[in-house]
Amino acid sequence: MDKKVLVAGGAGYIGSHTCMKLSESGYTPIVFDNLTNGHEEFVRWGLLERGDIRDPQRLAEVIAAHKPLAILHFAALIEVGDSVTNPLAFYENNVIGSLNLLQAAIKGGVNHVVFSSTCATYGLPETETLDETHSQKPINPYGRTKWIVEQAIRDYSDLLGLRAVMLRYFNAAGADFEGRIGEWHQPETHAIPIAIEAALGRRRDFKIFGTDYPTRDGTCVRDYIHVLDLADAHVRAVDYLLAGGKTEAINLGTGVGTTVKELLDTIRTVSGRAFPVEESARRPGDSTLLVADNKKAAALLGWAPRYGIEDIVRSAWNWHTKHNASH
Ligand code: UFG
Repeated sequence: MDKKVLVAGGAGYIGSHTCMKLSESGYTPIVFDNLTNGHEEFVRWGLLERGDIRDPQRLAEVIAAHKPLAILHFAALIEVGDSVTNPLAFYENNVIGSLNLLQAAIKGGVNHVVFSSTCATYGLPETETLDETHSQKPINPYGRTKWIVEQAIRDYSDLLGLRAVMLRYFNAAGADFEGRIGEWHQPETHAIPIAIEAALGRRRDFKIFGTDYPTRDGTCVRDYIHVLDLADAHVRAVDYLLAGGKTEAINLGTGVGTTVKELLDTIRTVSGRAFPVEESARRPGDSTLLVADNKKAAALLGWAPRYGIEDIVRSAWNWHTKHNASH
C-alpha cells in the first residue's frame, strides 16, 4: 500500500527537498501548493494538488481523496523583513492558513503533523546556543505567527489527540547536489543567494545589514543548515510520529554560528570571485545571534547534520550557476 503523505508547500524550497527525501525513503508525497511562491517544476517526486491553505473546502477535499498518513506543513510566508512591512499577509497565511490546515487534518482523521517552525520564535538570545526550553519572545511578526501556531498545536495535542513535531529551523541554505532544485525566491532576500548573485554579476553588490552588532566582527551570527539535512530530519519526524512519538518541538541547526562577513569569505573562496560589498544599516527585525543547541534532535530523531557551511555554499553555487543559465 502507498504510504501517502500530504506536503503543504511541497513546491517550495524546503518542501521540495523534503519530497525528494520522502520519496527516497518509501513515502509517496502529495504536494498541496498554490504555486504563489512554489514552482511547478520542483514537483518531481509526487503529484501536485493545487490549492491554498486559506481554502478549508479544498483542504478537506484533498485530504479525503488521499487519506494521507501524515501532513507536513511548509506553506508559509518566510521573510522576516516583509513581516514587519506587511503583517496582515503573515497573519492571514501563517496563522489563519495553518489553523485551517490543522482543523482539516483533525476533521479528516489525520493525527500526525510535522510543522515548519523557526528559531525566530525565540527572539533575542539569552544564552550562547538556544535549546528548546529557551524563552519564546519573538521580535518580529514572522516569528510571532509561527509561535502562535505552536501554541495551537500544543492545545490540539493535549485536547484532541493530535501528535505533531514542530521543527524549529535555523537558517535553511544550500541545494540538491545534482542541482535539480534549489533556493529560488522571488524577490530574493536571503543572504547566500544574494551574495552568489553578486558574485555572478547579476547584482551590483551585497549589502551587509549592520556592522555594529555585539559579535566577533560586528555582523549577525546565523546557524546555516543544509536543506538536505533539514529534509532528512523531516523524514525522521514522520517515522517518529508513525511509531507513536508524542508532540515535541525540536531544533534543527548545526550548532555552529557563521557571521555575515565569514559567510561572504566562504562565498569568495568557493566561487573564486570577488564582488562589491557595502556596509549598510541594520535590517528591522533581525536578531543578533541565532545558533542551535541540537541535542534533542539527536536524542529523539537520531539525527545529526552531515553538512557544513562549505558544502552549503558549494551546493548553492552549483544550483545558482545552473539555474541562472536556464532562466
Ligand atoms: N543579510 C545581509 N544582507 C542581505 C541579506 C541578509 O546582511 O542582503 C544578513 C541578515 O541581516 C542576517 C543574515 O544575513 O543577519 C541572514 O539573513 P537571511 O535573510 O538570509 O535570513 P534570516 O536570518 O533573516 O531569516 C531566515 C529565514 C527565516 C528564518 C530565519 C531563522 O528567512 O524564515 O532564517 O534565522 F526564521
